[in-house]
Amino acid sequence: MKVGVFDSGIGGLTVVKSLLEHQLFEEIIYFGDTARVPYGVKDKNTIVRYSLEALEFFKNFEIDLLITACNTVSAYALEEMKAQAPFHVIGVVEPGIIAAKNALSDPNANILVLGTKATVNSKAYENLLHQQGFTNTTAKATGLFVPIIEEGLFEGEILESTMHHYFGNLDCPDGIILGCTHFPLISQAIGNYFDNKSILIHSGEAIVEHLESHYEFTHKHPHPKLKFFASENPEALRSTARQWLNLPDEI
Ligand code: DGL
Repeated sequence: MKVGVFDSGIGGLTVVKSLLEHQLFEEIIYFGDTARVPYGVKDKNTIVRYSLEALEFFKNFEIDLLITACNTVSAYALEEMKAQAPFHVIGVVEPGIIAAKNALSDPNANILVLGTKATVNSKAYENLLHQQGFTNTTAKATGLFVPIIEEGLFEGEILESTMHHYFGNLDCPDGIILGCTHFPLISQAIGNYFDNKSILIHSGEAIVEHLESHYEFTHKHPHPKLKFFASENPEALRSTARQWLNLPDEI
């Protein structure tokens, strides 16, 4: 299978990392809309328009499946994308909910959802968590983490004080949904902040769980073909991909 992976920027590379670890696809085509990131501060019409434009880009490739590795897009534009796509399109929100359900069986579990302002305002996670019987949920827009991560500040004073700003008045959650594909890059710091007492749910691992239960993968692909595209400065995205995913120089 040939898969497309779409994010507003570089965050979706954390989903690519999970796909590579599980060797599911023979080819992965990534597109990050780096010229227009962040999506998480934009309104629904803009997010849908940008997402449909990205969909047009993926129509140039013969992909079997498109993963919207962006929670903001998954929360707002998934249905519109599905309606216009000649291939399957899957988002990261529903797989994240199923992963949370598998990891946290107690319906009274205290669940903290972290995401961009748009994702949190959409209530996509909270509504689905409530449908699954979880009632003790809090959603927090933590968009400042996005530029901090893009700056490569995965630890240190700036990240610590930002976590304190967002989490200072919260009880330790039983589970934390990292509802933004950038956030796995600071999962260690977030886990440490709560003394590693919370279970962290990561979009990349959730999507792999979803794929393995919905599609049949007959072969492992340890050396998939990888192509990285971006709407601005694709070389910067490729360089980040090489660094985060431990890829060779020719990528
Ligand atoms: N990676 C995006 C997400 O998962 C967040 C970045 C943005 O605001 O565009 O929502």
